[in-house]
Amino acid sequence: MKGTVMSGMRPTGKLHIGHLSVLENWVRLQEDHRCFFIIVNWHALTTAFDETEIIVENIQDMALDWLSAGLDPAKSTICVQSQVKEHAELHLLLSMITPLPWLERCPTYKEQVQELGKAGKDISTYGFLGYPMLMAADILVYKADTIPVGRDQLPHLEFAREVARRFNYLYDKNVFPEPQALLSNVPVVPGIDGRKMSKSYNNYISLSESTEELKKKTKMMITDPARIRKDDLGHPEVCTVFVYQGLFNPEEVDEIEQKCRQGAIGCVACKARLAECLDDVLGPIREKREELARRPDDIRDMLEDGARKARAAASAIMEEVREVMNLC
Ligand code: TRP
Repeated sequence: MKGTVMSGMRPTGKLHIGHLSVLENWVRLQEDHRCFFIIVNWHALTTAFDETEIIVENIQDMALDWLSAGLDPAKSTICVQSQVKEHAELHLLLSMITPLPWLERCPTYKEQVQELGKAGKDISTYGFLGYPMLMAADILVYKADTIPVGRDQLPHLEFAREVARRFNYLYDKNVFPEPQALLSNVPVVPGIDGRKMSKSYNNYISLSESTEELKKKTKMMITDPARIRKDDLGHPEVCTVFVYQGLFNPEEVDEIEQKCRQGAIGCVACKARLAECLDDVLGPIREKREELARRPDDIRDMLEDGARKARAAASAIMEEVREVMNLC
């Protein structure tokens, strides 16, 4: 094994095709790393503390999405954060040594408080301020050294490294390795309207979309507005369908580009071909998901089993932490 990987996602709803490459990366990592993939429902609570029932449903959806995309509980430890209380204990202990300004200066903090404030949600809470603290605990509680995350998470990771360093320095013992971000080339998948893919814009294609829905959604995609008739010359560089062809139909994308520029393929045909390609990618995931969804008890057992494995790893590390802090 090449190292210990830890990563997590907040259970905010079904995953979409923009998450596919992140999951593919996780699936690769589980082959040669010790992996912890955690559904971080406490992190979801930092902003959705008043929508706790929804989080429960979302956990189930997230587990289904992860497993159907190829995460394997025989290779990775997959669990729900709140089932491993050691995360909370480490969060508490690390909070004792973390200077408040480290949290206050986190670039996303004030921004998000303002952003959500405008939408009528007050998240100026102690818990939300501590979001990066909790994330640091998630990572350090397994002594994870390799953290696959998106660029947006780099400040949080830097924070986790600083906390690890401070702990090791204060207690004069090298307990925590400094976790490193593992950035992979995650292609940006635009939403079907060309904007950022997002739930709130309702412009997403979920991992569990049916064949019919894929046809419908590809039909709605924005193409070159200058193309009115099929034989008008196209400009793929301004077309969202073309971006998708590059991502989901790489073998034919050059040919499609040529034909589009010559007016030899129309948008309707181009979209129909894309729907087929998306279906080729999502079909197997959807089938696996449907099969798993029929066995909710097995999913629950799998998560409980994952939590047991996670607790075993985390509790050994917490013993060590308590010892250096003279706690019993
Ligand atoms: N903050 C991460 C996100 O929003 C989720 C997360 C929580 C996480 N704990 C983590 C990611 C630990 C990596 C490691 O995407």
